[in-house]
Amino acid sequence: MKRINIAIDGPAGAGKSTIARQVAEQLGFIYVDTGAMYRAVTWRVLQQGISPTDEAGVTEAARSMDLELRPGKDGQQVFVNGEDVTGHIRTPEINANVSDVAKVREVRELLVKMQQDMTRAKGVVMDGRDIGTHVIPDAEVKVFLTASPRVRAERRFLELKASQPDLTIDQLEQDIARRDQIDAEREFSPLVKAPDAVLVDSTSMTIPEVVDRILELCRVQA
Ligand code: C5P
Repeated sequence: MKRINIAIDGPAGAGKSTIARQVAEQLGFIYVDTGAMYRAVTWRVLQQGISPTDEAGVTEAARSMDLELRPGKDGQQVFVNGEDVTGHIRTPEINANVSDVAKVREVRELLVKMQQDMTRAKGVVMDGRDIGTHVIPDAEVKVFLTASPRVRAERRFLELKASQPDLTIDQLEQDIARRDQIDAEREFSPLVKAPDAVLVDSTSMTIPEVVDRILELCRVQA
């Protein structure tokens, strides 16, 4: 298949990263998880004792850090100033603060530029919230992946229960709803379906079914 760019957006817990990673594997494309970049900035902000709502502080933290994504054997790895933070960016603390950090315009400008640089050679599957609307508006395939809030919380629960045994599905559902609200209501590049994105509701679909649906959209394009 010729090299194209594939944008996968959608609310928290819709399965974007699992699906995007598998689509990339099948096509031999590069997978980029942009949420991990906002999470890495949040990790740095919290580590420096900066309040996530202090826009100037958050901007300075983002500007002064060196952020690097590297492909690893279990998916994308994230490095901040040379330190591998992949294992530290999916905690409840990061979940609770990442959407405030992601609201800051300068943070978005910085990360979107890095993301756009990664897509120039094409052959990228990128997931996030604003990929089809802002990062790669000319992506050949755009998908808006969603599922009911309860199903999204249940899926997150299954993913996290081994590492975070105290979490409950209700807590996760609340966390997801709160993040979706901040992401959808923010001023700069909010979470919204691009008019030309294909809506895929995965509530009653299996992972292979969703992957096949996206591969089918890619074949139509190629
Ligand atoms: O995809 P993930 O749930 O890891 O993203 C974490 C948070 O990062 C989102 O809730 C959102 O606030 C922010 N984000 C964003 N734009 C993106 C990707 C993620 O604002 N392209």
